[in-house]
Amino acid sequence: MDEPYRASPDIYVLPTHLPVPGVGKIPVNAFLLLAEEPVLIDAGLGVDESEFVAALESIISPLDLRWIWLTHDDADHLGNIQKVMDLAPNARLATHGLGALRMSTWWPVPLKRVHALTLDDRLHVGDRTLRAVRPPVFDNPTSTGIYDESTGALFSVDAFGGILPELTQDAAEVPDEDLIQGMLAWATFDTPWVHLVDEGRFEGVLEAVRTLQPTRVLSSHLPAAERGIEGFLSFLRSLRDADPFVAPDKEAFDEVVRQIETPSPPG
Ligand SMILES: [Fe+2]
Ligand SMILES: [Fe+2]
Repeated sequence: MDEPYRASPDIYVLPTHLPVPGVGKIPVNAFLLLAEEPVLIDAGLGVDESEFVAALESIISPLDLRWIWLTHDDADHLGNIQKVMDLAPNARLATHGLGALRMSTWWPVPLKRVHALTLDDRLHVGDRTLRAVRPPVFDNPTSTGIYDESTGALFSVDAFGGILPELTQDAAEVPDEDLIQGMLAWATFDTPWVHLVDEGRFEGVLEAVRTLQPTRVLSSHLPAAERGIEGFLSFLRSLRDADPFVAPDKEAFDEVVRQIETPSPPG
């Protein structure tokens, strides 16, 4: 795992990353929202279990968590969900109902603790209201983003992710060219259906995000980004005509594995 950092007075990022040999790194973020009723958003990578729990406990006692908002049931978001649910008995699991049922096929989800969310639901967490929103692009039908109506922060799930040469704690520190190329590489892989969408309907989806006027975008796969939503929406508009991602064939995959397994030289 990487060092937790504060994206705003009320938001901690719990970051880790996945290496992409020859290309860069994919940030993988969980978040802690310090609302009056604290909310953990996603649960990291399972390979990081002890580090994830330590990072969380360095900020808050899990006993104080009131909500765990799982954005969707992909492995890079729920790695430590069972562990965290055990450590946080006072927290309810806010997530897509069918995602909760799907997870219960492989771990004993305490379904009585599930608060099922549908789009546009509002969850009151003491001092603020969180709205369940569909991210403009997504890789899983249970994807449920968060719009914090009190601060304008948008937790955009997998949307606006990027494969970056270097990790930062602020998207503004990534050179523009690296950011665009990295977001393009991520989005064409993660949302291959984007090339099939109707232009007018997709424009409506982008307009819905613009209407929110997010003050801050917290993607699960990008450093925290302040403002700049217009640039992000223009980027999404360009995706339809981008070159589709092509998965590695066996030879290319074997080369990726070789690079992962070869230790990098010191220094
Ligand atoms: Fe995903
Ligand atoms: Fe993801």
